[in-house]
Amino acid sequence: MNQSELIVKALQGHKVSTVLDLWAGRGQDSLLCASYGCKVDAVDANKMKLWQFPSHLKQHPNISFHEKMIHEYLQENTKKYDLIMMFNAINFLKPEYVQGKLFELLSNMLNEKGTIVMNYFRKEDETMKDTNLYDEEELAVIDKYCSIEYSKYEVVDDQHPPMWFHQHHIQYLMLRKL
Ligand SMILES: C[S@@+](CC[C@H](N)C(=O)[O-])C[C@H]1O[C@@H](n2cnc3c(N)ncnc32)[C@H](O)[C@@H]1O
Repeated sequence: MNQSELIVKALQGHKVSTVLDLWAGRGQDSLLCASYGCKVDAVDANKMKLWQFPSHLKQHPNISFHEKMIHEYLQENTKKYDLIMMFNAINFLKPEYVQGKLFELLSNMLNEKGTIVMNYFRKEDETMKDTNLYDEEELAVIDKYCSIEYSKYEVVDDQHPPMWFHQHHIQYLMLRKL
């Protein structure tokens, strides 16, 4: 399972017309949903040089790009969505926010039977130690707002400088609004 496969699983499971891509990064997940005919709101602060949302995707008829911080967008937005995507994101947010308001805000933004697809680096991940790592217990807040429809723990080999060969411990989740 990778994030594209999980997104396609969500798109095939229930009718999805509207999508929110939180931390859209380089836009590949927004483009995948747009290719299924969904209207996508893509949010990214666009502050990291290596993770710029491409300008050609900003012209896409099914994608609206919002240059915003996640917490700003969640605070201001009044739209509801069928699907929210949040990949490679929560480890970089403040734990007080993730374990506090985040999932309540997200579930309020979902239509009935709406879906969240996401992943996070687990406690076991040695190479992501400088971020905020989680396990099921620390994300128990999710159960208050969503049921877990699908969950998969994967250990993924990776190789790049400066540490060369290493493994990522990634948890994939598909959640359904209660
Ligand atoms: C690791 S990338 C993940 C991108 C994409 N979701 C993916 O999986 O390919 C992190 C992205 O989050 C953005 N970012 C970091 N902090 C943010 C914040 N608080 N609000 C919005 N975007 C943020 C960065 O600009 C970057 O594009």
